[in-house]
Amino acid sequence: MNPNAVIISGGSRGLGLVLVKHVLARGCAVATFARSATPDMAALAKEFPDRFLFEPFDSANTAAMDTFVGKVFAKWGGIYGLVNNAAIGQDHLLANMPVEVIGQLLDVNLKAPILLTRAVVRRMLLGGGGRIVNITSICGQRGYAALTVYSATKGGMDAFTRSLARELGGRGIWVNSIAPGFFPSAMSSSLAARQLDTIRRRTPTERLCKEEDLLPVLDTLLFAESNITGMTYVVDGGSSI
Ligand SMILES: NC(=O)c1ccc[n+]([C@@H]2O[C@H](COP(=O)([O-])OP(=O)(O)OC[C@H]3O[C@@H](n4cnc5c(N)ncnc54)[C@H](OP(=O)(O)O)[C@@H]3O)[C@@H](O)[C@H]2O)c1
Repeated sequence: MNPNAVIISGGSRGLGLVLVKHVLARGCAVATFARSATPDMAALAKEFPDRFLFEPFDSANTAAMDTFVGKVFAKWGGIYGLVNNAAIGQDHLLANMPVEVIGQLLDVNLKAPILLTRAVVRRMLLGGGGRIVNITSICGQRGYAALTVYSATKGGMDAFTRSLARELGGRGIWVNSIAPGFFPSAMSSSLAARQLDTIRRRTPTERLCKEEDLLPVLDTLLFAESNITGMTYVVDGGSSI
């Protein structure tokens, strides 16, 4: 299979931006989207005019997402990889959680990546295969108070990974998840320094994750000639063992 285009959702900042830069450095064409553009998106468009595409839209806009996938397919003649990275985090005790916030978490973290995956898989099937990597979280496997609905969406994506891997393994499409531990970003900024310090002290490697820690696993799941599908890889310095 010839690796060509990779779609990475939510590549404007945080982990997504690190993944976008890394996959560009591997020589692939990369397409990403987020609700808002950042200066990094303009800089990458200038640096890689033929290999980088950013479009601003909300993943709740299914029509915009479908159009984007079609555009990527037409522009680069196929879609090799998908990284479902875009997500939101909200910490609320469940009893106090507004119903709108619950709906938003389910829409952005579960429904949108499922619909994006469906749109991409239809193109991957035409191209004879591909690789899908879902960025989930250790919250999908371990309990964290005030992160109940977020945890449900991430555990849901891990379950989606396993069943989709069964569905598509014979068609050359491999599906896996990477479940990171907490790392500093806009999403985790609501955690107090004290909470992050507690996580760090409980981590066998004695440090929090950073985005780059995921790259060796991403390379294996996206690019290696392995025989791995349906798995969730935890990258958290051992904090959840
Ligand atoms: N940070 C952590 O500690 C941590 C730990 C474990 C797992 N994770 C997971 O790692 C991934 C990246 O997290 P991060 O910390 O890098 O988050 P982040 O800095 O908040 O970045 C999230 C990205 O997703 C985009 N996005 C959010 N909502 C969107 C929407 N409705 N439509 C389109 N794009 C949207 C954001 O751009 P806009 O806001 O402009 O739309 C941004 O590009 C997520 O899946 C997260 O659940 C994070």
